[in-house]
Amino acid sequence: MTSRVLVTGGAGFIGSHIVDRLIKDGHEVSILDNLEPQVHQETFPDCLNGSAKFFKGSVLDYNLLKTLVAEAEIVFHEAAMSGAGQSMYQVRRYVNANVAGTACLLDVLANEKHNVKKVLVASSMSGYGEGAYKCESCGVVSPPLRTGEQLKAKSWELKCNCGKQLEFLATPETKPFHPTNVYAVSKVSQEQLTLSVCSAYGIPAVALRYFNVYGPRQFLSNPYTGVTAIFMSRIMNNNPPLVFEDGLQTRDFVSIHDVVQANILAMKSRAADYEALNVGSGLPVTVKKIAEVLAGFCGKNIAPNVTNKFRQGDIRHCFADISKIKTLLEYSPEISFERGMQEFIEWSGTQNSVDKVDQASEELKSKGLID
Ligand code: UD1
Repeated sequence: MTSRVLVTGGAGFIGSHIVDRLIKDGHEVSILDNLEPQVHQETFPDCLNGSAKFFKGSVLDYNLLKTLVAEAEIVFHEAAMSGAGQSMYQVRRYVNANVAGTACLLDVLANEKHNVKKVLVASSMSGYGEGAYKCESCGVVSPPLRTGEQLKAKSWELKCNCGKQLEFLATPETKPFHPTNVYAVSKVSQEQLTLSVCSAYGIPAVALRYFNVYGPRQFLSNPYTGVTAIFMSRIMNNNPPLVFEDGLQTRDFVSIHDVVQANILAMKSRAADYEALNVGSGLPVTVKKIAEVLAGFCGKNIAPNVTNKFRQGDIRHCFADISKIKTLLEYSPEISFERGMQEFIEWSGTQNSVDKVDQASEELKSKGLID
C-alpha cells in the first residue's frame, strides 16, 4: 500500500536516504527542509530526490507545516540541528530548531485537521550520556560524566563509587537519561514531547534513538558533525585526524542503510508504537580504529594524532543493546563495519571537502570546551 509521507529534514544526511527508500517503495513524498547553510554550505543539495515534492522552509513555520501535515498520512521528523559541542554556546539556536520545531509539529497535530496515522521521530543515543557499565562488586551502574579532575589527570576510564574500574556494557533503552549537552537535552525533549502528545491523541509514534550514524552524504565540510565525517575530511586534506583522549573510547557506528531499515520497519509495523528504540550496530568500535581504518582504506599513510586532550561533555563508552528493536521489529543490521566504511570512503572520493575542523576546534577552545 502506498502512503503520502512528509519528511522534515528530507534534504539532510539521514532524511534524504529515508526519502529515497520511500520513493523506491512507491510512496508519495513531500520534503520540508530549510537547507541550513552550515550543513549545505550555501549550495543546493544534489542528493534531493527529484520524485519528491520539495518545500524550502522551517519547522517553525506553523502555517507551512499545517498545509503539509494536512496532506500527509505518515510523518518522519528528521529536521534538527546536530552538533553537541556547538550546542553549548548556541543554546537558543538548538533549542529553537529541535525543541520548538517539534512543538510546532505537535501543535499542528493537536489542533488542525489531518489524517496522520504514524509519526517517526529521530531521537538519539546522546540522551543516555555515559552508556551502561558493570562493577564486579556493585553490579550494573549508570555512572555520571567523569569529573574535571579525573580528566585533567588523564585517567580516562570510568570508576565505580566503590573505587573499582568499570567494565562497559551494551546500553539498553531502560538506562536512565543523563543528557550532558544542549543537543542531547533537545533530543530527549523531542522524543518525550512526541511520545506524550501523540499518545494523548492516539497517533501511533515511534522514537528511534540513533547511535553514531555514518555513510554517504554525511556532510564532510560541516565540522560540527560526527567523528567519521570529521576524520574523513582531515584525511582527504592530508591532515592527521585529531583523536581526543587516548583514542580507546568507543561508540556504536551504524550504517545509514541500517538506520533506513529501522525507520521503514517502524513505519510498517504496529509492534513498536509509542516505544523508543535503539538503532545501532550493537558493536563497540574505538575512535582510534575509525581514524586508522579510514586512512588505511584511502591508501594514505596518515597516522592519527592522539592528542590526550579531552572535549567537555564527552562520554567514554556507549554502544547499543539492540535486542528490543530486534524482537519488536525484526531489525537486523545488514551492513558490516568494513563494508560500510568502504562504501563511505568510495563515496567520499567523489566529493570535495574543505577541512574546517581547526576553525571549529578554535571556537570550542575559545569557550573553554576543549582542554
Ligand atoms: C555526539 C552526540 C550524538 C551526535 C554527535 C554528532 C552525545 C553523547 N552524543 O556524539 O548524539 O549525533 O555528537 O553531533 O552528546 N572525536 C575525536 N576527534 C574529533 C571529533 C571527535 O577524537 O575530531 C571523538 C570524541 O571525543 C568522541 C568520539 O570521537 O569520543 C565521537 O564524537 P562525535 O562523533 O562528536 O559523537 P559523540 O560525542 O559520540
